[in-house]
Amino acid sequence: MSDTLRLGIAGLGTVGVGVIRIVEKQAALLAQRTGKSIIVSAVSARSKDKDRGVDLSGYAWEDDPVALATRDDVDVYVELMGGENGPAKASIEAAIAAGKDVVTANKALLAHHGQSIAEQAEANGCVVRYEAAVAGGIPVIKALTEGLAANGVTRVMGVMNGTCNYILTRMEDAGLSYEEAFAEADGLGYLEADPNLDVGGIDAGHKLSILSSIAFGTQVDFDGVELEGIGAITIEDIRNAADMGYKIKLLGVTQMTGRGLEQRMSPCLVPATSPLGQLVGGTNMVVLEGDAVGQIVLRGAGAGEGPTASAVMGDVCDIARGLRLPTFGQPANTLRCAKSARAAIPAPYYLRLSLLDKPGAMAKVASVLGDAGVSIHRMRQHDHDGTHAPVVIVTHKTTRQAVDQAIEGFAATGVVSGAPVALRIEQV
Ligand code: NAP
Ligand code: HSE
Repeated sequence: MSDTLRLGIAGLGTVGVGVIRIVEKQAALLAQRTGKSIIVSAVSARSKDKDRGVDLSGYAWEDDPVALATRDDVDVYVELMGGENGPAKASIEAAIAAGKDVVTANKALLAHHGQSIAEQAEANGCVVRYEAAVAGGIPVIKALTEGLAANGVTRVMGVMNGTCNYILTRMEDAGLSYEEAFAEADGLGYLEADPNLDVGGIDAGHKLSILSSIAFGTQVDFDGVELEGIGAITIEDIRNAADMGYKIKLLGVTQMTGRGLEQRMSPCLVPATSPLGQLVGGTNMVVLEGDAVGQIVLRGAGAGEGPTASAVMGDVCDIARGLRLPTFGQPANTLRCAKSARAAIPAPYYLRLSLLDKPGAMAKVASVLGDAGVSIHRMRQHDHDGTHAPVVIVTHKTTRQAVDQAIEGFAATGVVSGAPVALRIEQV
């Protein structure tokens, strides 16, 4: 077996450049820790001439990532371009067909094609590693597949999109509107090229679906994730939540229930004093619960050059050391197709609606809630603008289905204007 591990890196943006910097700076450390000299053979990106702040002259250049992935002098193909299809998928499949191991940070690709990639890799004796795809620098995949391998996982929760947490934190701390906080995040370069991936909850949903697969031995099912973004959250919601001792977080929760696999990524109220409630800025947190270990909380940078490259290189080191685990922690052909269950476990909900200020309006709302089986725990009416009054209702424990039925019912009352906001209150 060779004492050199040769990388081919496709994608020389934030993460790719970070990986090259670590390979160059930590060459001696990496060799000591893995027993192998880890080098870069060849690289690829769209533009050969772009100044990337690192010297690429010592590496072969390929315009085509597929050609890079199949080069004879590449042992591990490192895919850092992104995208659920296109060159990322084609090049990873080509690498596996050529017998190469793969490291990627691409959560979109794994959320949509994880099962087929895992099956192909395992049929070809290759490993596919993706620590950087979920929660950036936090070694959560390693924690689940290795440290907690002896546990029946009961629940995984977390804040997995730093951009959303940054926006919500700025609304809370600086009193910014959603639009102002979004613009600030944009100015800092936090948003994905398609911002809806962040604020629509899609990016975080991709990550949650990957964790579900490892935690519960199921095939990745991104379509089974109930997704809701943060775009409807107003500064009033943030303040109302704070008044009740809560913070609003884009929270992912996955758990296996008697009715199937519940996966949801949505803005929720969490106790302000809980670890998740105290998470500020672009940081991520993942809470893992196992039947033997109890609860573990992992917190750290979910994005950025250093943290994400750190996770990529952790995977490279494992391959150099000879660690060869199945992609999702157990053989791909043993992963079950789980039935998906809509938020099965009841919880209290926070409801904000704009109510026409006229006699009997509240009675109509209360009647619709009653018809849907939703019981009011407490209620507050805020200052109104003359015609409409913002009303906040906290329900007793109920299901999302019942809340949605009530929201549909509000439309027919003629006293509720605009779209009500409904947020689950999660005890974490
Ligand atoms: P990025 O800065 O936008 O860089 C993407 C790179 O891919 C660029 O170098 C680009 O080339 C190259 N590329 C794009 N399309 C290509 C094609 N068709 N052929 C060859 N090269 C192509 O992206 P990034 O932030 O580094 O993210 C890379 C991956 O890591 C994504 O999957 C992302 O979701 C994941 N990730 C990123 C972070 C983060 O903090 N940035 C965190 C976790 C996971 P040019 O430079 O020539 O345009
Ligand atoms: N857009 C992602 C985030 C990048 O904000 O967390 C890291 O996956």
